[in-house]
Amino acid sequence: MDLTGDRARSLVVLKLGGSLLTRKREVEKLRPKVLTRLAEEVVAAAGVPLVLLHGAGSFGHPGAARFGLARAPVPGSTSAERTRGAAIVAAEVRRLHLAVLRDLIRAGASPWSVPLSGVGHNRAGALAGLEVAPFQRALDRGLLPVSFGDVVPDDVWGVSILSADTAATELARRLKARRVVFATDVQGVLEGPLNGKRTVVEEVTEGLVARLRPGPGATDVTGGIRAKLEAMLAVARDGADAGLISGLTDGAVSRAIRGEMVYGSWAHARAP
Ligand SMILES: Nc1ncnc2c1ncn2[C@@H]1O[C@H](COP(=O)(O)OP(=O)(O)OP(=O)(O)O)[C@@H](O)[C@H]1O
Ligand SMILES: [Mg+2]
Repeated sequence: MDLTGDRARSLVVLKLGGSLLTRKREVEKLRPKVLTRLAEEVVAAAGVPLVLLHGAGSFGHPGAARFGLARAPVPGSTSAERTRGAAIVAAEVRRLHLAVLRDLIRAGASPWSVPLSGVGHNRAGALAGLEVAPFQRALDRGLLPVSFGDVVPDDVWGVSILSADTAATELARRLKARRVVFATDVQGVLEGPLNGKRTVVEEVTEGLVARLRPGPGATDVTGGIRAKLEAMLAVARDGADAGLISGLTDGAVSRAIRGEMVYGSWAHARAP
């Protein structure tokens, strides 16, 4: 299929962060009202071609950390422990995924689940391959493809974590998206003294990533804020805009899908 030209460039990739959908410092705690409102915001922006991903939040990160799934196997550990951990964490993130699908359906969308475990694989913890055709087929049929940070086969480590941030970046590049929106529980990248007033940095640059002192966050096995900013810069280099915005601000996600540069931190598309 020809994905060049204006039609393909209308695609938006939205990643709803686990920091937003769940209480990330607890275990398997959904934020039901936030999820319901965000599902409605997605539907309010219907008409814009969209690929949706969500993070794992408190449904995946604690288990992934416990079983060491984002790291190389510890020498002396058995592959049976890692395999069992993979099964447990995969089931945990699917509990959140089902809640996301349920609320999208209630809001009137037609979500179509495309788990990364079936279409992606890693090599030593880094993305090694992602099939994008299942996402495109769903889009072509008027379905809303929905994926999530997941456990995937790993050619070296057996199994490992593929983050939704990484998948969002790869899908945006391959499907030639116009923009990628990362919605989280913060207004953007915060800078300033950790115990003083922190301000939002509106433009994401390599310099920002180099001087960033991440503040305390909840468990994030896939690199937290720094990895997210690196993903955003990769999107900008691929010719699309990447925004980090707050999904707690009413209507912001909907406006961002529709193309508004809503308040937050942005890595602007660069000329190829
Ligand atoms: N300098 C910073 N600016 C903004 N957020 C920061 C900063 N340092 C740390 N953080 C933390 O990073 C978090 C966002 O990254 P995190 O990976 O935890 O969320 P997420 O990607 O939404 O969750 P998930 O990975 O489950 O999808 C914020 O909730 C915040 O607590
Ligand atoms: Mg994260």
